[in-house]
Amino acid sequence: MQTFGQVLSLPKFEFMTEKDFVPVQNLEYPNEGIVGWKAPSNIALVKYWGKLPNQIPANPSISFTLDACATTTLLKFKRLESRGNTFSFDFLFEGKSKATFKPKIITFFERVSSYLPFLKEYHFEIDSSNSFPHSSGIASSASGMSALALCLLEIERRSTPGMTPYHFRKKASFLARLGSGSACRSIEGGLIQWGKTASINQSSDLFGIRYPFEVHSNFKNYHDTILLVHKGQKTVSSTVGHGLMKDHPFAENRFKQAHQNLEALRPIFKNGDLEAFVKIVESEALTLHAMMMTSHPYFILMLPNTLEIINRIMAFRKETTIPICFTLDAGANVHVLYPESEKGKCIQFIQDELVAYCENGHYICDRIGNGAKQFSPVP
Ligand code: DP6
Repeated sequence: MQTFGQVLSLPKFEFMTEKDFVPVQNLEYPNEGIVGWKAPSNIALVKYWGKLPNQIPANPSISFTLDACATTTLLKFKRLESRGNTFSFDFLFEGKSKATFKPKIITFFERVSSYLPFLKEYHFEIDSSNSFPHSSGIASSASGMSALALCLLEIERRSTPGMTPYHFRKKASFLARLGSGSACRSIEGGLIQWGKTASINQSSDLFGIRYPFEVHSNFKNYHDTILLVHKGQKTVSSTVGHGLMKDHPFAENRFKQAHQNLEALRPIFKNGDLEAFVKIVESEALTLHAMMMTSHPYFILMLPNTLEIINRIMAFRKETTIPICFTLDAGANVHVLYPESEKGKCIQFIQDELVAYCENGHYICDRIGNGAKQFSPVP
C-alpha cells in the first residue's frame, strides 16, 4: 500500500531538514520508463565560494537563472532483476558514451541515495546534451546536475501522486545541490537565493528559494551576454577552489561580506537602483577572484583579455552612464549584464569593442529565464 503522509506534511522553508526529503517506505516505483528535463544554467550575483561538508555553503548566494544556456537530459530506467551493490548506468553526452563524466555521477548517486532509495534497483541510461558548445569554457555542472536531479525525482513523483509541486521543486533543488552547489539555483526561474542568512527568513542551506522580496521592473528580462575569452579547460576546478577557502586568511570577512551584500541588495532590487546594483555585482566578481589570488596555493583564472574587457566596460559606463556591468564565474569568461532598456546600445558596444577579445570572436546572448522545463521524450 502506498502512503504519502510524510510528503504531504512537508514543513515550510526554514523548518525543513534533510529528513523531510527521505521518501516514505514501500512506494511502488515503475518497472521502466523514460523521463526528460531541460534545466538552465545560472549566473551568481553574490557568489558561493567555500563550503562545509555535505555541500553546505559557507556563505549565502543569489543568482539570475539563465535561459539559453541549458542542459537537456533524457533518462531511461529499467528495473534490475535484483538490487545491485553498485549503481548501474550508462552516460551519453551528446549521443556519445562519456566515461570521464561517470565518477562525478557516481559521487552524486552516493550522496542522494538515501533520498532516492530506488537508485540501486535500476539500470539507467542518461543521455545529456548542452545548448552551448562543450568546449565553451562554460561550467555545465549547474544545468547538468539540476537536469539529472529533476529526471531522477520524476521517477519518485510517478510513484507518489500526492507529491505537491512545492515539494517537487524543493526536493529537486535539494538533490541538485548534492551534485553541484550552484545547481540548486537552476530549478526555478528569475532571482534565486541559496544559503541561510538572517535577512531572509525563508532562506536555507539545503536548497534554493525564489527571492521572496519585491523586485523592480528594471530587473525584468535582464541580459547576460557571455564573452568566451577562453574555451578550454580551467586550470583549477571550482571544487578545489572551494576547498582552498577552508584555511583562507580572509575567509571569515568574505563570508560576512556575502551576508551584507545580500542584505544591501534588498532595497536595490526594490527600487531598481542600477547604479548601486552594478557596484555590488562587480565587487562580488572581483572579490571571488581576489579570494583565488590570495589562497594557498594561489591561482589566477583571469586572462589578459578578461581584464581588457573589464576595463572597457568600466570606461564605457563612465562615458555613457549606461548601467552595464560585468561579473565572472570561476574562469576567464566575462558575463556582461545590462537591462532590457539598454539592450540596443549594449549589444552594439559589445560587438564594436569587446568581441575582438573573445576566442574566435565567440559569445553567447543570454538573459533571465523561467527555470527548468519537463518535456515528453520520444522513446
Ligand atoms: C564561482 O557549484 O561549481 O560559480 O558545489 O563544488 O560543484 P561545487 O561548486 P560550483 O561552484 C560555483 C562557484 C561559482 C559561484 C556561484 O555560482 O555562486
